[in-house]
Amino acid sequence: MRKKFIAGNWKMYKSPKETKEFFAAFAKEMDASESVKKAIADGVEDVAFFVPSISLTTAIEAAENMPLIIGAENAHWEKCGAFTGEISVPMVAEVKASHVLIGHSERRHIFHETNEETNKKMHAVTDGGLRAVLCVGETLEERESGKAHDVIKGQFLDGLKNFDAHTTAEKVIIAYEPVWAIGTGKTASAQDAEEICKFIRDLASDTFGTECAEKLLILYGGSVKPENTASIMSEADIDGVLVGGASLKAESFIKIAENAL
Ligand code: PGA
Repeated sequence: MRKKFIAGNWKMYKSPKETKEFFAAFAKEMDASESVKKAIADGVEDVAFFVPSISLTTAIEAAENMPLIIGAENAHWEKCGAFTGEISVPMVAEVKASHVLIGHSERRHIFHETNEETNKKMHAVTDGGLRAVLCVGETLEERESGKAHDVIKGQFLDGLKNFDAHTTAEKVIIAYEPVWAIGTGKTASAQDAEEICKFIRDLASDTFGTECAEKLLILYGGSVKPENTASIMSEADIDGVLVGGASLKAESFIKIAENAL
């Protein structure tokens, strides 16, 4: 049985002050939620937050007494160097964040990050001892022209170039996020999301073997809300959700973590 992974992606929201306020509110929600507390304690569910780099330290400190995962939203592939504005994996590790989002569609489409760059970042994250969430997903145009599977296959294979089965199973999580469903209120139907998540699991099986594919966590993201979480999570190949907008409020995110169970 794969562990459920419920993750919030805060994007460019929440300053350190707002982060502190959020976790004070989230601590109360956690305290009141017997099912989420039990699921985390039993090792059935992980709850994670990917936060702006300037708020990482605050998040780690504020969440210190809660069994939560804190991660960065991006990291450069070099350990240090003349890369103004970037942060490195050792910097993320030093503040005790354990996960990094790689290749989010906003990185790919707004900042023109390529599959080759996501691959270098993926290696930097796993070589640095952290866990990477590789985001993949097609645009509306790609879906409508029948290219969705090819695009996802390319993002998966290029992103995981020179990875082995063990590292992939233990250190990589895949998040399928159709670009047309992100922040638009348009969720992929649970069946459409499952169809692609199964396609990704089959790709993992072909590339790394069935044992790796069975262990690999695959998430869905794109307008996930408390109301649609249960139906998305009922699909066989969807192990969790990556949540943007609805992760910014403690009440809605705890409901997502509850409804995922
Ligand atoms: P959304 O964002 O839930 O606001 O659609 C998801 C994401 O970008 O990870």
